[in-house]
Amino acid sequence: MGVSGSGKTTLGLQLSENLGLEFYDGDHFHSKSNIDKMSAGNPLTDEDRFEWLESINEAAQKLVASKTSGIFACSALKEKYRILLSKNIENEIVFLYLKGTKEVIQARMNARKGHFMPSQLLDSQFKTLEEPQNALEIDLTKSPAEMMQETLEKINLSEFGLVGLGVMGKSLARNLANNGFQISLFNRFVEDKEVSIAEKFIDSHEELKTAKGFEDLEKFCKSLQTPRKIFLMIKAGVETDEFIEKIKPYLQKGDILIDGGNSHFKDTKKRMDYLAENDLHFIGTGVSGGEEGALRGPSIMPSGNAAAYKNIERFLNKIAAIDKNGGSCCTYIGADGSGHFIKMVHNGVEYAEMQLIAEVYALLRYKNGLNPDEISEIFHNWNGGQLKSYLLEITAKILTKKEKGKWLVDLILDQAGNKGTGNWTTVTATELGIPATLITSALFARYVSTVREKYESIPSNTENESKNLNFRIIEKAYALARMVNHQQGFGLIKTASDAYNWSLNLSEIARIWTNGCIIRSTLMEDIQIYFETTADLFEVSEIKQQIIDFKGDLKCFCLSALQAELPIPCMLSANDYINSLNQNINTANIIQAQRDFFGAHTYQRRDAEGGKFFHTIWE
Ligand code: 6PG
Repeated sequence: MGVSGSGKTTLGLQLSENLGLEFYDGDHFHSKSNIDKMSAGNPLTDEDRFEWLESINEAAQKLVASKTSGIFACSALKEKYRILLSKNIENEIVFLYLKGTKEVIQARMNARKGHFMPSQLLDSQFKTLEEPQNALEIDLTKSPAEMMQETLEKINLSEFGLVGLGVMGKSLARNLANNGFQISLFNRFVEDKEVSIAEKFIDSHEELKTAKGFEDLEKFCKSLQTPRKIFLMIKAGVETDEFIEKIKPYLQKGDILIDGGNSHFKDTKKRMDYLAENDLHFIGTGVSGGEEGALRGPSIMPSGNAAAYKNIERFLNKIAAIDKNGGSCCTYIGADGSGHFIKMVHNGVEYAEMQLIAEVYALLRYKNGLNPDEISEIFHNWNGGQLKSYLLEITAKILTKKEKGKWLVDLILDQAGNKGTGNWTTVTATELGIPATLITSALFARYVSTVREKYESIPSNTENESKNLNFRIIEKAYALARMVNHQQGFGLIKTASDAYNWSLNLSEIARIWTNGCIIRSTLMEDIQIYFETTADLFEVSEIKQQIIDFKGDLKCFCLSALQAELPIPCMLSANDYINSLNQNINTANIIQAQRDFFGAHTYQRRDAEGGKFFHTIWE
């Protein structure tokens, strides 16, 4: 509101663009009789204006009823006009008063080409004007950009919301604040357990001093600019569905929920479709990097509605890690739950990477007889070269950690936990027919670790042991096994991309995994480049050569570990996978013959055309 020439339309249009809200020019609400009257040079009476103001109020009421907002430009010079404009929506309306002197407005209008405001008109406007008591005042001498900034500050709505202040949520909130974003934080209220979590968290961190904390969901939603952008960092599964039901009544058309949890990609798709019925967006987003990564820059894998993603892109790009060329480790992955899909596979690959390191540790410790400090040194050295990875780096650190003179690893119970993503990857790989054998072996190794205590310990038989392998052989065996793990993991992504029509960009996925995430490594940087020209790592000539050069080392590793009776399921899986690539050794022919023998399932022949099926009467 404000007198003619105060800049209502300019600011209104800018706000409309910035906040994603529809702009309504008050002049367009006049009736034909009003227009005729004004065109004939007759001023409108209060009575004429009531009808006009009522029609604006009706339009605003409709917006409120449909849970949307809008921006109206209307002079609203008198208090009674403003009361009419607010009818039935008193608590939903905010008046922005563009304030300035007659001289300033007159001078500004005169300076504009083709605009000249008769000073009597301005006089009469100022005479009519009753300055509002409860409006937010905006100084109209400022530039349009400054006025908009001032308006946004005055409206004081946050640009971004975050729900769930667990370990990851807290780190992401600090990351957003450190990057200068105005945020609102919500944490649920649980009597005696979770009380004023958001406020206490804000109070304990300097960078959060402008953030707002809530445990009332409605107030939290009202504190956000629309379309609302809300990062959910809550427990995956039913908790996510329950939360969606709770927040939905406070959302309006175009709002965007970003699910940063480890949700199953099929659930993500269902949630997207469900929320789309109400024109709400759901962006399923993988986030990797743990607590530290979330704070300093994680790898971020968003997917879903591409247009909605545009609205959140600048936030996610800013808080993500940076790759070695300065790019953000966040990229739009694709449609549906593809972001959560690749995060799931990331975790599967992570399981196998962790297990491979554990198996190398087993050989060095129980066969070669090195202690954890010595193994740490070897890992540390490897980490200085081609084998560099975050997981190897942290394992080198883990192995030197001591408590009361004892290695902490020796005090940790030998039972591995999991939260389910490795399981999902295995199930998905079997559904899509992809032999992700290292991921599966790593998952089952965790399961084995939890069931074995039921049995009596079986001591090793150390007779006839071979001599210890040198570190170079172990290093090469480990390098090759990692390559197999990555080839299988990305193979799974490629197959899913084709099956679900996602058109995923493998090189781009590898790129955002070169920093911030748990499986970041030098190998991932190489893989990013390989995928620029191929969709299968085993088609890359350097890798083909590495398989030939290192397969003997992998075999030696396995033999040495087997002789020492060490469990090395991932190394064996890698070795088996490589052995299976030898086309001169056949076993599946026996399976086909057996299937045909007992079930007439038929088989194809080497000496016949492909696609032709044969059956034999075997007896
Ligand atoms: C990451 C991690 C993270 C989490 C895993 C652990 O990328 O930041 O993968 O998502 O640590 O979920 O999974 P498990 O508990 O199943 O080992």
